[in-house]
Amino acid sequence: MEKITLETKNVSIEFPGVKALSDINFKISTGVIHALMGANGAGKSTLMKVLAGANPTYTGEVLYNGSPVELRHPVDAKKLGIQIVYQEVDMALAPNLTVAENVMFNDIVMNMKGKLLMNYTRIRREAREVLKQLNVDIDVRRICSSLSLAQKQMVLIARAIQNECNFLILDEPTAPLSDSETDELFRVVRHLRETHNMAIIFITHRIHEVLRICDSYTVMRGGMIVDTTPITQETTSKEIVDKMLGRSFEENFPKEICEIGEKAFVVENLTEKEGKVKNINMYVRKGEIVGLAGLVGGGKTELCKTLFGAYKTSSGKISYNGKELKIKIPADAVKNRIALVPEERRKEGVLVAETVNFNLAAASLNRFCKLSFVSEIATAKNAKHFVDELQIATPSIRQKVAFLSGGNQQKVAVGKWLAADSDVYIFDEPTKGVDVGAKQEIFRLINQIAKDGNCVIYATCENSELLSITDRMYVMFDGRITAELETKNTNETEIMRYSTGEVQEAFA
Ligand SMILES: Nc1ncnc2c1ncn2[C@@H]1O[C@H](COP(=O)(O)OP(=O)(O)OP(=O)(O)O)[C@@H](O)[C@H]1O
Ligand SMILES: [Mg+2]
Repeated sequence: MEKITLETKNVSIEFPGVKALSDINFKISTGVIHALMGANGAGKSTLMKVLAGANPTYTGEVLYNGSPVELRHPVDAKKLGIQIVYQEVDMALAPNLTVAENVMFNDIVMNMKGKLLMNYTRIRREAREVLKQLNVDIDVRRICSSLSLAQKQMVLIARAIQNECNFLILDEPTAPLSDSETDELFRVVRHLRETHNMAIIFITHRIHEVLRICDSYTVMRGGMIVDTTPITQETTSKEIVDKMLGRSFEENFPKEICEIGEKAFVVENLTEKEGKVKNINMYVRKGEIVGLAGLVGGGKTELCKTLFGAYKTSSGKISYNGKELKIKIPADAVKNRIALVPEERRKEGVLVAETVNFNLAAASLNRFCKLSFVSEIATAKNAKHFVDELQIATPSIRQKVAFLSGGNQQKVAVGKWLAADSDVYIFDEPTKGVDVGAKQEIFRLINQIAKDGNCVIYATCENSELLSITDRMYVMFDGRITAELETKNTNETEIMRYSTGEVQEAFA
């Protein structure tokens, strides 16, 4: 098949206070799956936005099959068959439209001009066909806001390939996906390479995925390209990580042994009003890190939100130190010293229009108040501490969070609650989208929180993380707890069994 190439020549881009890209020479041809790697803030998304026509102020040149092209508007890129699925899924979807409308979005916009009637039968049919190609089963009449993160992602991929597509850019597509969904995506991606001869540029922080599926990779660091090479049998994750971080790095998350106290946070027979979680019985001791395991959709996020008062309950009891807590809304949870780092950070975890400084103080403003004035000195000190600890890449603590890279926004969301002085900390997928170095920092800080005698609940579908950081875990399936496991006595296979529906006697 004929190969098409896409190439950047000395592409640079500068934002106030940040040189996001410096003289990037990047080349890709169709028919390959290419990984783009780099620590948070390295410039991956910025470079891909240039190719997608969404960063019009770049300098330098882009060549399409050797000829210079101008990518100053998303339409310029789409015309050349360059499609992108962004990291922030929610910003790209029209939440109140149906799946069919979202998949066929560009088609609808193009056809709208001059027409009053839309042929919805055709739109639904074609949307169904595209989803079928991807082998995903979503009712095209559903409203997108009701979909899971993983399903929203699939809708966006369907939208991208519904259009002319030679270059498909996927910015962290697997971050919200479960293992089986990831496998499914990989099957689709391989299929698109083989039968459509597409180039797929794949951004991820999960290095084992790169080794599994990609033909070659590029590493970026500090707005520059460090290396581009094919992936062979000999390629190791260590060499990729070392290139990303610019130093030798051992990935290990040693569990710190800390003293575990008495039962403090106790949940009895808790049921969410609409049945999102059912009959939850669990407890966390002081100094203990308790995992919530289970697949995407198993109910972990729903449980976290219910504990935090974001969902209403129909029955059950939550108590701390023997005292019942009345949690009806999140403010009640905060008052009762419960903190939640939510999964969908852009929507819930951070105030993107506010500064890094403000966000890092937001969960604990009372700590920074003197005579009802917020002490600038104290918040700045707090912000600098966490920017340092979590290596948040930002030109200053006054930067608006909206301008940080995806992973750095996540670090702010985590840092905000680390700064809050709480008794119970609930983390929902806190390492999603953060690079390996920062992940280790987050683990270290969570260990510290436990060591200080607090209760920690840690929800993730990464079983390896549960095995390395928790003391004990509850496994969830279909909104219920199916098992309670001692971390030191369990393994991935056992977690998997209970994640897929097997139930321990005690929970039957
Ligand atoms: N619109 C913008 N205004 C100001 N700075 C920006 C803007 N977009 C990106 N940046 C900065 O450019 C740098 C590169 O960001 P980019 O989003 O490309 O990183 P990334 O490699 O995708 O990281 P991540 O893995 O966290 O998603 C970061 O320092 C970021 O804060
Ligand atoms: Mg990014």
